[in-house]
Amino acid sequence: MASSVEIVSPYLFRYKGYNFAHGETTPEYIDSLQDFEIRDSDVFLVTYPKSGTVWTQQIITLLYEGEVEEVAHRAGLTYSNNLERMPWLEYREGRSDYSLRPSPRLFCSHLTPTLLPRGLREGKGKVVYVMRNPKDVAVSYYHFSQAWSKLETPHSFQDFLDKYLEGKVGGSSWFDHVRAWYSSRGLFHILFLTYEEMVQDLHGAVQKLCSFLGRQLDSASLDRVVDRATFCNMKADPRANYEFLPADLLLREHGHFLRKGTTGDWKNSFTVAQSESFDSVFQERMRGLPLEFIWDINKQPE
Ligand code: A3P
Repeated sequence: MASSVEIVSPYLFRYKGYNFAHGETTPEYIDSLQDFEIRDSDVFLVTYPKSGTVWTQQIITLLYEGEVEEVAHRAGLTYSNNLERMPWLEYREGRSDYSLRPSPRLFCSHLTPTLLPRGLREGKGKVVYVMRNPKDVAVSYYHFSQAWSKLETPHSFQDFLDKYLEGKVGGSSWFDHVRAWYSSRGLFHILFLTYEEMVQDLHGAVQKLCSFLGRQLDSASLDRVVDRATFCNMKADPRANYEFLPADLLLREHGHFLRKGTTGDWKNSFTVAQSESFDSVFQERMRGLPLEFIWDINKQPE
């Protein structure tokens, strides 16, 4: 490995300021992404982990349903789930060369702006960046760390919280991720969405995505997308719920991608002291960023 690789833990390595899980990608592959050619029709969904990625992935793949399958079919490809329809750019293991995929191409990524292909920073393609309040992200990530075999199982919520605040988790620091994306927004053709606005008004969020992506859906088709993106329907949808993953990767007895799907669940895990100490780190690390988050609605998924 190149000398700029730092081993953070038995589970993580750090490359170019970002923590990757061992065995999921390589520095050489990450470097090669700089020259990955971007087409104007490409769509990238970018998130910090546990911010609503698979949810937005379900919406975007539904907005392109039919078209993506048809071009794939013509190229001799068959997609049976959302991961195949809209794969992670930084993890290519076992998948065909992304540069050969027919347009429109849909990708997910957890990367920071500078690690993504330079074409995106030149304004080609479209980026949808979804953010979620960082306390709910922490709780979701804590639970997910127990179910995802490539991540370290935390000893306790406090143990996880310490590492999360220090950025010693996969995807590095939530604060750095959000700051980097917000600060470089001018370079990209980008739409910012929040998990909380999706919880509060899924229909409105789907409409926003439609207009940003230039998808023209009549109102019945739009309603069908919204219906298929609700928590309950997605949890039962084998193309979307990630239960198709191998049992040694997603340890189902310890958790699932679709867990609670609410806003404000952090209150069930944070103590008052943890919350206060988190708030002071938040104030400090978010200084100068005009971003506001919704922390305390607790609407149940439909
Ligand atoms: P919780 O663990 O708080 O329930 P990611 O896809 O980025 O890994 O994010 C996972 C989080 O998104 C989980 O949060 C999951 O339940 C939530 N989620 C996934 N689909 C959802 C949906 N249709 N509605 C609401 N939340 C959803």
